[in-house]
Amino acid sequence: MAIESRVRISDTAGIVTARQQGRTLALELGFEGSDLTVIATAISEVARNILDHAKSGEVIISRYQHGGKRGICVIACDTGPGIADIEQAMQYGYSTRNGLGIGLPGAKLLMDEFHIKSTVGLGTTITMRKWMH
Ligand SMILES: Nc1ncnc2c1ncn2[C@@H]1O[C@H](COP(=O)(O)OP(=O)(O)OP(=O)(O)O)[C@@H](O)[C@H]1O
Ligand SMILES: [Mg+2]
Repeated sequence: MAIESRVRISDTAGIVTARQQGRTLALELGFEGSDLTVIATAISEVARNILDHAKSGEVIISRYQHGGKRGICVIACDTGPGIADIEQAMQYGYSTRNGLGIGLPGAKLLMDEFHIKSTVGLGTTITMRKWMH
């Protein structure tokens, strides 16, 4: 069983690949039904943000096990411009490029854990997890 998948994001094909790899690993881990779509959608949003706001980066999808919990972990990282105000970026409808501004809050809602680490001028790393119930 694949335990980790790394996808380079520098064009829309990368977004599609990350989405597919995420769905495949989630299926292998035992997720089913709507959870597969939920995970794939959250991956699409953070991958699209890499392309839209940082031009290029990487999505790393892996299995996650901690204590009694099992699930999937998605890390989206880039060395783009970074996010100056994370609280503002997380607000529904906030966008710096005329987007809908629902990518980040949407991904947070879809996943069980969502963490952003970002430094202006250095880049952004988003770590999100979904557990098996
Ligand atoms: N990887 C990133 N690097 C730099 N800024 C980012 C990154 N991801 C998000 N942002 C900032 O956070 C804002 C909110 O992101 P969000 O995904 O919610 O909206 P959006 O991408 O602008 O629009 P959409 O609804 O199409 O996703 C962005 O407009 C951008 O300013
Ligand atoms: Mg977005």
